[in-house]
Amino acid sequence: MLSNKVINYFDDKVIWITGASSGIGRALTISLSSIDCDIYISSRSQDKLQETKSLCENQSNIHILDGDLTDKACNQSISDSIKNKSGHLDIAILNAGTCEYVDIDQFDSALFQRLINSNYMSIIYGIEATLPLLKQSNHAHLVGMSSTAAYLGLPRSEAYGASKAAILNLFRALKVSMAPYNIEVSTICPGFVKTELTDKNDFPMPCLISSQQASEEILKGIANKKHEIHFPKRFSYALKAISLLPDFIQFRLLSKMVQKS
Ligand SMILES: NC(=O)c1ccc[n+]([C@@H]2O[C@H](COP(=O)([O-])OP(=O)(O)OC[C@H]3O[C@@H](n4cnc5c(N)ncnc54)[C@H](OP(=O)(O)O)[C@@H]3O)[C@@H](O)[C@H]2O)c1
Repeated sequence: MLSNKVINYFDDKVIWITGASSGIGRALTISLSSIDCDIYISSRSQDKLQETKSLCENQSNIHILDGDLTDKACNQSISDSIKNKSGHLDIAILNAGTCEYVDIDQFDSALFQRLINSNYMSIIYGIEATLPLLKQSNHAHLVGMSSTAAYLGLPRSEAYGASKAAILNLFRALKVSMAPYNIEVSTICPGFVKTELTDKNDFPMPCLISSQQASEEILKGIANKKHEIHFPKRFSYALKAISLLPDFIQFRLLSKMVQKS
């Protein structure tokens, strides 16, 4: 159930959601489809985007723009399509991304490259392509998907965590540099959310929440113009607290997570 504040914030807006073919992006699209706004949705899989659209309350305001967002030209062509249809963009939710874990016994630079491309460079290309459209809006809001994994150096998460820490740092800087252009900037740092991405995890996930719960937290955070939207609070604050501890205590705690094969 969306609050009036959320409904009013997104009402009549032009919105781009990346990674909308499943998980959190799909849940955001379904929630927003009940509001009178235009929603452009992207990911590589046209079929799954079509499935997302079919689950929406009001399908006439959902526009599918599929493609690989690690490709700069693809982001530009999506931006051109939004410009041709809507003329401007109010809210970009750059959510697409993936996760892979590092095996120290098979340290592989290609894995790091893949995650930097899919998590970080896709956002950079998305901003580059849509910034001119956001500047045309009177209510511009740029939102980037990071993770609570950005707060700490978590074992096996060396590549994923680094890509998400890069995003958190980027959006802190953008918060300041976009202010003269009246562009709001928010970063999302979820804990564990049940999606296709976390279904692959082979370890216990404390405080796991549904993609619907995540979507409610995100939309509330955006409507309240929060810079960092982090949840669930008992998990995100616990990680923040650990990050403030002296290094030797942090390393001792985290070393309990390491299993040598
Ligand atoms: N689930 C969690 O616990 C959690 C926690 C913190 C942060 N996050 C972040 O939240 C975001 C969404 O994750 P999720 O959990 O909802 O996972 P998900 O269900 O696997 O969704 C990932 C989405 O990103 C899209 N995507 C991935 N690579 C892409 C590419 N190169 N080009 C275009 N689209 C691409 C996927 O679509 P296609 O495969 O169709 O392209 C899919 O729509 C990710 O950035 C993830 O890192 C998730």
